[in-house]
Amino acid sequence: MSTSWRLSGRTRKLTLVVHIASVGSWLGLDVAMAVLVFTALGTGDVETKALCFRALELVTIWPMTISGLTCLVTGVLLAYGSKYGLVKYWWVVVKLGLNLLLSTLILIALRPGVVDLAEKGAEGNAVDLVFPPIVSPTLLMVAVVLSVFKPWGRLRRKN
Ligand code: HEM
Repeated sequence: MSTSWRLSGRTRKLTLVVHIASVGSWLGLDVAMAVLVFTALGTGDVETKALCFRALELVTIWPMTISGLTCLVTGVLLAYGSKYGLVKYWWVVVKLGLNLLLSTLILIALRPGVVDLAEKGAEGNAVDLVFPPIVSPTLLMVAVVLSVFKPWGRLRRKN
């Protein structure tokens, strides 16, 4: 499982910049999602509510999927192309799992709900979507903390 392939200094830094930028955009989209969902929940105005649902469809699904996949690809390159490896350290493996989980959830769980609300407009109920804007940024922040603190060491003592 070990590799001698390494990203060179400059390429590694560029990849890291894209990785961090994708995390920033992903978190920003989560904030936008939270603002739209909680505004739709709190407003009594039917037009504002319908507008929130339509904006939610535009802002979330594809931009979020692209951010998630960019984060995944650059993360895999950073890990595989460095001493960390893809499956050597717990913090990398857990981040890989979180990224795959969140990217999958965007497409199989969030997308149908958001499309449904955009179609229903003011008839829809934003309560169905309160969890994504809470769960997604929380797990992303867990991944950020793991990236900086790199806890738990190696999967196997020697590999
Ligand atoms: C779940 C979403 C992810 C988030 C929020 C995230 C966040 C970050 C952040 C903030 C950094 C910069 C840390 C620093 O420079 O101190 C980083 C670096 C890194 N990430 Fe990710 N990441 C994610 C997914 C992944 C994935 C899927 C992988 C690989 C499987 C990965 C592997 C790495 C590696 C190897 C570094 C470089 C660490 C270093 O050189 O110090 N990340 N990540």
